[in-house]
Order: sequence, then C-alpha cells, then structure tokens
Amino acid sequence: MNMQISKSPIGLDGVAAAETALSHVDGERGELIIAGERVGDLAREANFEGVTARLWASATGQPIGEAAVRAELGAARERAFARLPRLLAAADALPIIDGMRAAIAALRGEPGLSDEATIVGALPVIAGALVRHGRGEAPLPPDPTLGHAADTLAMLDGKRPDPRAAAALDAYLVTVSDHGMNASTFAARVVASTRADLFAAVTAGYCALTGPLHGGAPEPVLQMLDAIGTPDRIAPWIDAALSRGERLMGFGHRIYRVRDPRADVLEATVARLSQGGVDMPFAAAVEAYAREALRRAKPHRPLDTNVEFFTAILLDALQIPRQAFTPVFAVARAAGWTAHAREQQRTGRLLRPSSVYVGPLPQEK
Ligand code: ACO
Repeated sequence: MNMQISKSPIGLDGVAAAETALSHVDGERGELIIAGERVGDLAREANFEGVTARLWASATGQPIGEAAVRAELGAARERAFARLPRLLAAADALPIIDGMRAAIAALRGEPGLSDEATIVGALPVIAGALVRHGRGEAPLPPDPTLGHAADTLAMLDGKRPDPRAAAALDAYLVTVSDHGMNASTFAARVVASTRADLFAAVTAGYCALTGPLHGGAPEPVLQMLDAIGTPDRIAPWIDAALSRGERLMGFGHRIYRVRDPRADVLEATVARLSQGGVDMPFAAAVEAYAREALRRAKPHRPLDTNVEFFTAILLDALQIPRQAFTPVFAVARAAGWTAHAREQQRTGRLLRPSSVYVGPLPQEK
C-alpha cells in the first residue's frame, strides 16, 4: 500500500491556525501587540475593562466601550455570586486549580448578560470563593462599584484593596489578557470552531492553561526560589537541575527567542509595589544566573525569562496564595479566550489539522 506521509511540524511550530486582529507576538524582536498597542504602553495606559472592551469589539464587530464593560462585569460578578452554591457544588473537595475547572464548566448563560461578560465576571468570584473556602471562610460578595482588579483582590482577602495593589493587579490582568495563538487560546478556538458555545470553549482554554508548560508554571517558580533558598546555592542548584535534564520554570518559550516583553512589564510593576514577598535582589540573581546557565546548557536554543517568572513574584507580593496563581491568570486570559472564541465563530471554519501516521500499514492481500 502506498501512502504519502506529509512532512509537517510536530507540535505545530510555525503553523498559522487562524487570522486574528486581537494580538500578535513577535518572538525575534520580543514584541507583543494587544489590540493594536504594545503591551508596555497598554499596561501603563489601559485598565482591564478597557483592554477587554477593545478585544470584544474587535472580535464581534460590535462597538463596546470601557464603561459598558465595567458595568457588565460588575453585574456579572453579582450574578455569579448568587449562583455560587451551584457553581461550587462539584468543586468542594478539589484543590483550587481543579475546583476552578469544575466551576467554570458549570457556568451557563445568564438572561440580560452576554456570555463573555458572564464568564469574565464569574472567574474572580469563583477564585475568591475557592480560596476562602480552603481557609474555612465564607465567600465575600462582589462590589460592582469597584474595578475588576480591585474587586478580585477584595473577594480574595476581604479588605478594601490598597490602590497601589489594585493598580498592580490591573497591570497584570492587562499584560496577560491575550497572547496570540498560545496553547489555551488554541484549545478555546478549536472548541469554538465546532460551534460549541463560549462556556465550552473557555472550559477547554482553562484546562489547557493549568499545565506547567503553560499557565501552571508560577507556583513551581516559587517552589524553585524556595528550594534554592540563599544566594550561595543559586549556581549549584541550577547547574544540578540542568544536568539532571530538568526544565527551569519561568524560562523558555515556544515563540520568544529573547526576554518575554511581559517579564519587563511585570518586573516594573513589582518594583512599584511597596509590599514585599520574594526578596527582589535574590530573584534578580536567580534570573541572571539561570539565563547564563541556559545559554551554556542549550547553546542551540535561545532560552530567556518568560512571563511566569515575574507573575509568580508579583502575585506573591500581592499576597495571593500560590494555589490561586493559575486561577488568577485565568481571570485575565478569559478576556482573550472569549474574544478569540467569538472571532473563531465568525469565521465559520472548523479547525481540524491532520496527523502524521507512523503506525503499521495493512498487509497486501
Ligand atoms: N529549562 C531548561 N531547558 C529548557 C527549558 C527550560 N525552561 N525550556 C526549553 N528547554 C530546552 C528543552 O529541554 C530542549 O532541549 P534539547 O534540545 O536539549 O532537548 C530545548 O530547550 C528546546 O525545547 P523545546 O521543547 O523545543 O521548547 P518548547 O518550545 O516546546 O518549550 C516551553 C516551550 C514549554 C515553555 C519550555 O520552554 C518550558 O518547558 N519552560 C518551562 C515551563 C514554563 O516556564 N512554562 C511557562 C511558559 S509561558 C506561558 O505559557 C504563559
């Protein structure tokens, strides 16, 4: 039997799965454009509601402004809080990261709200309730008069957030709101392309986010910093990890060949925060040695700091428990997932790649 086996990149490196007007990653230049703006400018000038409005307007072709998104997300947070008993029913005995998956899967359309607002509004309510449940505390109701970032912090720790902390979380939410055809966005688009609804698409996106090669890396970043412990152990610890063939969490990227531009934005955001967590000179020394050691260990592959290294440091400084790092990432990326799912639906085209068959062939009879 003659079969033509096509040569295609395994892992889909360099394959364009869609056209998008939402965001663009230039891996050689270390540039990220979200909704027409460089990520650094956007994090300085826009808030989460503003970038979400731009993404949704682009994806749907329907104009929507920041104020309307702020009002809709506030209403959606309240609606999600009213639905918490149902949303958390399947999440009860699970770790936070898995409870979040179960609760997202339980979301349904709400009368008078768009599906995208229902989803994006619900995520911080669910994350806050799961964190508090883990501590034996009752969930806290949202305050629709607060911005999405400030209310996310308030629902996590019960305090009216310090404006600097709220601004720092807002900068984080903007910075990671969207990022081209990353694995979770691709998963969301594949599901949306089947004409499944936004709830199914975002559930798929969240599932893909949880792995440590994608959005599950920040907790292991802190574990690495804890394990290294002191400056004198940086070099031996990293050298030993690399010689065992381990991957350093918070380093490397499929697209970037230089430092991830989001690392610059988040490093500057941490520097503006007065409250501390990880010792910054120590983290900077770990980063510097890791970059050097990776250059030595993998001379064939440029590997540099990715967004997750400073995500871990920033979310820790904001006193967000590490088990909630990936759920808080999802709070931000839900803006991108919902926009990409809508953009994909508008194309009407099923995403269905091919595979390279390497199994046995039938014998000629
Ligand atoms: N530490 C050590 N070695 C690494 C790392 C790393 N962080 N990343 C890649 N490499 C090595 C690989 O082992 C491989 O080595 P080899 O050629 O000797 O076999 C080489 O670099 C090429 O690696 P690929 O597998 O081609 O890289 P890929 O594009 O698949 O990896 C990934 C991207 C998954 C992000 C990888 O860099 C990684 O595992 N990083 C650590 C986890 C992490 O930080 N994840 C968060 C990513 S950011 C985000 O998703 C939001």
